[in-house]
Amino acid sequence: MSGQVKSRKRVQEHGEVFTNEREVNAMLDMVRQETERIDSRFLEPACGDGNFLSEVLRRKLDVVDSRYRRSLPEWEKYAFIAVGSIYGVELLRDNTMACRKRLFGIVEGRYARVSKGGGNQTFLDAIAFVLERNILNGNALSLKAVNEHGQDTDEPIVFSEWSVVLGDKVKRRDFRLDEMLEGNVDKGQTRSLFAADNTPAVDWEYDEETKSFIPKPIREFPLASLYEIGDAK
Ligand SMILES: C[S@@+](CC[C@H](N)C(=O)[O-])C[C@H]1O[C@@H](n2cnc3c(N)ncnc32)[C@H](O)[C@@H]1O
Repeated sequence: MSGQVKSRKRVQEHGEVFTNEREVNAMLDMVRQETERIDSRFLEPACGDGNFLSEVLRRKLDVVDSRYRRSLPEWEKYAFIAVGSIYGVELLRDNTMACRKRLFGIVEGRYARVSKGGGNQTFLDAIAFVLERNILNGNALSLKAVNEHGQDTDEPIVFSEWSVVLGDKVKRRDFRLDEMLEGNVDKGQTRSLFAADNTPAVDWEYDEETKSFIPKPIREFPLASLYEIGDAK
């Protein structure tokens, strides 16, 4: 996004003022190590058209390029992990679509270079699919998905976790964002992930990766090849 404001109306109604590149980089430099760790997860709750997320992706892909450019399958696997770790919520549909498109364009451009034009369309389909699942049109305050007018629906925001295991096999697990942040209010559980009493409620589980209790996923998918993920619609 080159300009910081699209219209006065959008600023007044949605606080839409985009962050310029210099500020984005200065802020990301404060967590530079994380931006350069291929699998570190980033969630931006009002991501606009992706000024922060696109820079995070660029930094991660710089690492992927430097480590794996000599092996296309390795490059694909780690680029998939990089994209799969980036999440955004955005209220306005046009921004959401623009953000997905922008992130996709970054991967597509790098992939064309690294594959010297001999890339695999199924890899790009997988990237497009993950971006559809990770960059969501939703309300970061109510934690609900929104309709095309930006109004809340009854559906919670649901994010997918993507873990690459066993070569090119991907495990997908879906989680409700409200449960991840606050505990499941619908089921009468009010314990937060960050509550002082961290005794797990019935449907929480201990996560070795984060060394904390996380809610159980609402859906788990069978292992699938990275190259078939894009068919899973
Ligand atoms: C100040 S802009 C920042 C955009 C982007 N993060 C950046 O730095 O360039 C705020 C964005 O949040 C979106 N937004 C406003 N209210 C929101 C809400 N409740 N949930 C999700 N996004 C929201 C707006 O549409 C706008 O794109």
